[in-house]
Amino acid sequence: MKKTLEQLKQKALGEIQRINDSEGLKNLETEYLGRKGKITKVLREIKDISEEMKPVIGKLANEIKIELTDAIKTADSKFSGKSSTDKGFFDPTLPGIRSAEGHLHPITQMLERIWDVFRSMNFDIVDGPEIENDYYNFQALNIPQDHPARDMQDTFYLKKEKNKSVGKYGELLLRTHTSSASQVRTMEKNKPPLRVIATGKCYRRDEDVSHTPMFHQFDGVAVDSDITFSDLKGTLHHAMREILEKDIKVRFRISYFPFVEPGAEFDVTCTICNGKGCPTCKNTGWLEMGGCGMIHPNVLKAAKYDPKKHQGFAFGFGIERPLMIKHKIADIRTLFENDARFLKQF
Ligand code: DAH
Repeated sequence: MKKTLEQLKQKALGEIQRINDSEGLKNLETEYLGRKGKITKVLREIKDISEEMKPVIGKLANEIKIELTDAIKTADSKFSGKSSTDKGFFDPTLPGIRSAEGHLHPITQMLERIWDVFRSMNFDIVDGPEIENDYYNFQALNIPQDHPARDMQDTFYLKKEKNKSVGKYGELLLRTHTSSASQVRTMEKNKPPLRVIATGKCYRRDEDVSHTPMFHQFDGVAVDSDITFSDLKGTLHHAMREILEKDIKVRFRISYFPFVEPGAEFDVTCTICNGKGCPTCKNTGWLEMGGCGMIHPNVLKAAKYDPKKHQGFAFGFGIERPLMIKHKIADIRTLFENDARFLKQF
């Protein structure tokens, strides 16, 4: 019995050394000294031993109990969370606990940059609804029902109300571009001269490394009585240089958009290779940015402007694209996954 007690003591002392938290020590105390503990169990057998051994074992058992209790107490004082401040000591040189600081999402940062650039050129910032109707999203922009240009802008439609005809404005849908906000909606409420930009969320049935069903766009419009294509070129060149914060060139390629005539696509010098040619620009040295042109007379008429007196330019592009170019982001989807490790980098 004496041997068993000694062995239990050694085992418990060894374990105390290895335990590294208060909870572990508490468990150990119960395991050895609790009511059903290993040492208590041995002591219960004391009634069966000879009379002269009883006091010897009893004494030993008590000593072991005291020794283990002390060892547990000493070990526990290391983890019981008594810090230097508990003893009235404050060390002002220790680093404080910083609260995590957030910042604007990179898309918002880009939007704010664009607003600043165009505000400095005397453009007003306007807004339009994200739930748009067929008229403003398509028809007023010279894209009638069944026009093939609708194919590239398939979107999400809202459920029609039962027994209600859709009327002149047509079905409700999620807007496919901000052209609906900057062009007819704003033009019909304001007389020329007019300079506005519209930014915001747009929606299309698209998804791959460079497309998401929800994305952001930016559209600009200027209408006056003496606006020419060179005004458009000058405006876009200056704006692109300021937005991308690089001394880039702008190139125009003739293209077709139903709401402008003539229409063009515009490219900027590839900011990755500085125009030398790389995989991002498919070795052309240019990156496609968006569309532009002189506002079509039918769009001016839809806003009740007289195309003989007034003319204007319009342009539009996605917000994600310049952002991806500026920060060399390979997959557009990472912008909307809300992964703080990604967002912290901006
Ligand atoms: N709205 C067009 C699109 O989303 C882009 C665009 C092209 C806007 C030409 C314009 C423009 O204002 O003049 O594909």
